[in-house]
Amino acid sequence: MGNISPLYHDVKLLCAVTSDNHIDSKHPAPKVPMWFLTQSLKDSAKSRVPMDVYLTIGDTTSHGSAENWELAKRCFDKCRPAKHIFLTVGNHDLWNDDGYETAERNYLQYSNAICGTDHTKTWFSHNVNGYKLIFLGNTQDAGCEAHLGEEQLAWLRQELDGADGKPAFVFCHQSLNGRHGLPRTWDRNESATDPMEGGVGTESEALERILKAHKNVFYFSGHSHMGLCGEKRMQEEGYASFEHEDGLTLINLPSQACGNHHGDDRSMGIGVIIEVYEDKVVIRPRNFAKHTMNRKVAIKDGKPYWEQRI
Ligand SMILES: [Fe+2]
Repeated sequence: MGNISPLYHDVKLLCAVTSDNHIDSKHPAPKVPMWFLTQSLKDSAKSRVPMDVYLTIGDTTSHGSAENWELAKRCFDKCRPAKHIFLTVGNHDLWNDDGYETAERNYLQYSNAICGTDHTKTWFSHNVNGYKLIFLGNTQDAGCEAHLGEEQLAWLRQELDGADGKPAFVFCHQSLNGRHGLPRTWDRNESATDPMEGGVGTESEALERILKAHKNVFYFSGHSHMGLCGEKRMQEEGYASFEHEDGLTLINLPSQACGNHHGDDRSMGIGVIIEVYEDKVVIRPRNFAKHTMNRKVAIKDGKPYWEQRI
């Protein structure tokens, strides 16, 4: 138990990140996901160093209906967790009985109202304390996959060029294909057979090339509802929540309020804190519902968090 407190002095950027809150008016108990979301907002608001950003990596709602967004907004209306709030769009946010356009319109209307932004697209970037936060989003209905399109990929390349080697943080609901144990970990019964299953899909390699062409890129995803997987699982099973390849760091978050599988810690309430310092980036899993940092899952070099020199 305890308030969020950065690991080191002189933190330059402090962010709280959660994913897959799945606010749902048709949930058997709608107050359950609302409770988990609210706990993470309150926990962020009480940080010993004021939180710069609270953000989600998609599926804030289980269905992008106005009813669900109203419930999500009610949580944010009660507690301002950080100076800035940003909501990545997820596939569930774009599913709606009235069609994709209605769901996209609901996402833009409610996320702008919650965040105090004026986004006109599902993809956008913000510069906070000199660091780029880049949010990717679908441009059309693509089922469970991402569909970013050439215009957005070209824009992403420009955005990363503009980061000038400083750490840049990219948030996309889906992970690159085949990472974090996918496709076999997409389904709790490991029945997936399509190599693209659970990932970005057909644009994964194009996206990967852009990300790997730049230094100090941190790519965050959610979507697969996997628990927190540490370095022991990487040794034994070949995958983890934190992976690193060709200079690119990949982080997959558990679902905060929808249940998890395949993890060393499958609790709900888990997200991460991003701490950026002059010479390093630290990413620390936190259980926002229990108000505790991760202690039981070794993430890197036996420590319960990821630390990377930049
Ligand atoms: Fe989800």
